[in-house]
Amino acid sequence: MRVLGIETSCDETGVAIYDSEAGLLGDALYSQVAVHAEYGGVVPELASRDHVRKLLPLVKEVLQQADMQADAIDAVAYTAGPGLIGALMVGASTGRAMALAWGVPAIGVHHMEGHLLAPMLEEHPPAFPFVALLVSGGHTQLVQVDGIGEYTLLGESLDDAAGEAFDKAAKMIGLNYPGGPEVARLAEQGDRSRFRFPRPMTDRPGLDFSFSGLKTFTLNTSNDLRVDGVLAEKDRCDIAAAFEDAVVDTLAIKCRRALQQTGFKQLIIAGGVSANQRLRERLEEMVKKERAALFYARPRFCTDNGAMIAYAGCQRLMAGQSSDLSIQCQPRWPMDTLEPITKG
Ligand code: KG4
Ligand code: ZN
Repeated sequence: MRVLGIETSCDETGVAIYDSEAGLLGDALYSQVAVHAEYGGVVPELASRDHVRKLLPLVKEVLQQADMQADAIDAVAYTAGPGLIGALMVGASTGRAMALAWGVPAIGVHHMEGHLLAPMLEEHPPAFPFVALLVSGGHTQLVQVDGIGEYTLLGESLDDAAGEAFDKAAKMIGLNYPGGPEVARLAEQGDRSRFRFPRPMTDRPGLDFSFSGLKTFTLNTSNDLRVDGVLAEKDRCDIAAAFEDAVVDTLAIKCRRALQQTGFKQLIIAGGVSANQRLRERLEEMVKKERAALFYARPRFCTDNGAMIAYAGCQRLMAGQSSDLSIQCQPRWPMDTLEPITKG
């Protein structure tokens, strides 16, 4: 089955074609970062308008990449939530309408299920069951994954998501949106031993997270160092390093606990923050000690993209699932309400 996947839940327009036999045949991405940068974060209305402008040209582009016409597409998958409602509706309406015009089924995909399955696009994919750490701009969750649609929430952030914390900390030290990659870039040059930020909620049992306290820590540390309102480059780098290490350590401690609690030997990380090099290195060390294995997607498929939606949609469509013509988008959508895929 050959599926065209569409992602428009936030500030990235992604389109891809996934073939259940041949793998990924085309993949195009347009980032709206420049549109939102001057506002310091995503402006929902501008996001919707930009998806409207960019989506169909990207569909044309992936068809050209794959060297095929629309009649070679067997189904359309689009992100139906969670995300910005206006942005979701652009991808859902366009995707559903294309499927109707082409006479093929369509399916609304859960954005976080897309992220969770992205490591399956790589050469050595994990096999079920595994523990998943989902770390994006809107979510930080540890999930027990027994199969597609068989998700048990083990823990989640009680306040800010890890990516959101990166973005807010970045703003405090004068970096642009999105802050995660910028913080990581500065942290590479930072002195990791100068400051020690707390590892929130690691001193008590459980798998929940809290990242909002790290914001206060970042703010106070940077305010103490400002001279005439200006933060020196070295101080920014050292704060970025301390912040990154605190988030990475905290995530690693909870991932280790989740592996021990479930007895599983495979950990996957997905979502924008899983592109973080320091996190990957720290988790590689941890899984080695636990005699477990770590899986992640290439950086392009960690952040929002059409390939993960095409892949997730393809799995559900092959199991006989599809969405009807009355389009439903859900800005909030708990992942543990998804239907399992029953193999038949
Ligand atoms: O998954 P994603 O593209 O969008 C959502 O579904 O939210 O994740 C975006 C988030 C942003 O908060 C961004 O700052 C963060 O992922 N991010 C990173 C890195 N690359 C992206 N955070 C830390 N290090 C990175 N290298
Ligand atoms: Zn995402």
